[in-house]
Amino acid sequence: MSDLLCEKLLEFPEHGETISEIHERLDRLSRYAHQNPDELSLIDRFNTVQEVPLLIGQIRKLWPYVVTSILNQATRELFLSLDEKKGSELFSPRSPWGRLHSKGGMDDLNDILRSPDILTEKYSDYQPLISLFHDIKGVLSTVPSNNTRKKMFRYLKEYINQDPASMQEILSSVHLSDVGLNGAVIDRLLGLNKGEIEKSIDFLSLFMEYDDESVIKNFTGENIISETDYASIRKLLHLLEPGKGDVVWDLGCAYSRLGIYGGLTTDATYKGVDIVAGRVEAALKVKDKFGVDNLTVMAEDVRNVDFSDGNIFYFYNPFFDDTLKIVGNKLREIAGSNGGIKIVSNNTSDDYFSKQKWLRRVYPLEEYTDNKMHINIYESGN
Ligand SMILES: C[S@@+](CC[C@H](N)C(=O)[O-])C[C@H]1O[C@@H](n2cnc3c(N)ncnc32)[C@H](O)[C@@H]1O
Repeated sequence: MSDLLCEKLLEFPEHGETISEIHERLDRLSRYAHQNPDELSLIDRFNTVQEVPLLIGQIRKLWPYVVTSILNQATRELFLSLDEKKGSELFSPRSPWGRLHSKGGMDDLNDILRSPDILTEKYSDYQPLISLFHDIKGVLSTVPSNNTRKKMFRYLKEYINQDPASMQEILSSVHLSDVGLNGAVIDRLLGLNKGEIEKSIDFLSLFMEYDDESVIKNFTGENIISETDYASIRKLLHLLEPGKGDVVWDLGCAYSRLGIYGGLTTDATYKGVDIVAGRVEAALKVKDKFGVDNLTVMAEDVRNVDFSDGNIFYFYNPFFDDTLKIVGNKLREIAGSNGGIKIVSNNTSDDYFSKQKWLRRVYPLEEYTDNKMHINIYESGN
């Protein structure tokens, strides 16, 4: 592979973009390099524990795209230069690439990290790939290891258990920063072991009782419920800036991530309702433990709840169409009587809200702006 071809590879936008995304993550990871855990502040420990695995996970996810795109492009070039044999060899099942690919190893950077020779020997000519690999390896060797992070996690958990008020300190700090937020770690520090809780929920009975509701729609069979990620909640709260006097309802709140995070980081009042009592009970335990006094959570069917005291309403894929329509009609009445409301709609409920003539979208203002979190904000036309 000539240097010229390597240079050309980097010109391909989708390829260059992925590489620069990896470099961005590596830059962030480097901030955690050579840390001495004993000398870190509480917030730094928290960020290390939660952001490092997040960044490593993102790099691992991006890596196969980079490799595939570099190798595909190289093969295309070989075919174009009529060297079909060499091109096919690249993908032969016996080639290291083929072997890695067939056992799915390319999906896991660890495989290559464990046997780097595979990469360096066969692809020594693919400079962008090799140098990126060495960058990744170099940075990974400088950040706190899995074991160190586990110890740091245990320390944090104990610290927070003894002094629950420190969680508010931590979340208030990350609220003002742009660190990546790792839902699994934050939930566990809050004491929410959702896998276990979801396992203990009797979905069959719920389904029998509410066969017209979306209670198990989000139950994937792996005891994982789909929730809004904390980074989206942070961004949303920065967009809305709710304060004293605002009442934010999460309709179909599950574990009330929005209410817990928002309640600990802003002065607004948060309310949540969910039809699955097990999720609400867990959220209430967190509320009590961390003293989230501006949060109320109730186990109810949204169709029976009076949410007319609210002025901001949040939806993340909660209801099937009929219930969404009932809730939407109530919101329209509320908007008419209390001087205007905001509706935040994340994902599927947007089909419904985007068609409501009494609402106007205020975020995003343009159709295709950076709206990775699929959040739309509407205001009633008062
Ligand atoms: C996708 S989860 C969203 C959770 C939370 N709002 C978030 O953003 O992280 C939707 C929740 O809506 C709840 N739900 C479905 N139908 C409901 C109903 N009729 N009344 C109350 N909650 C309901 C489900 O139990 C589920 O926990």
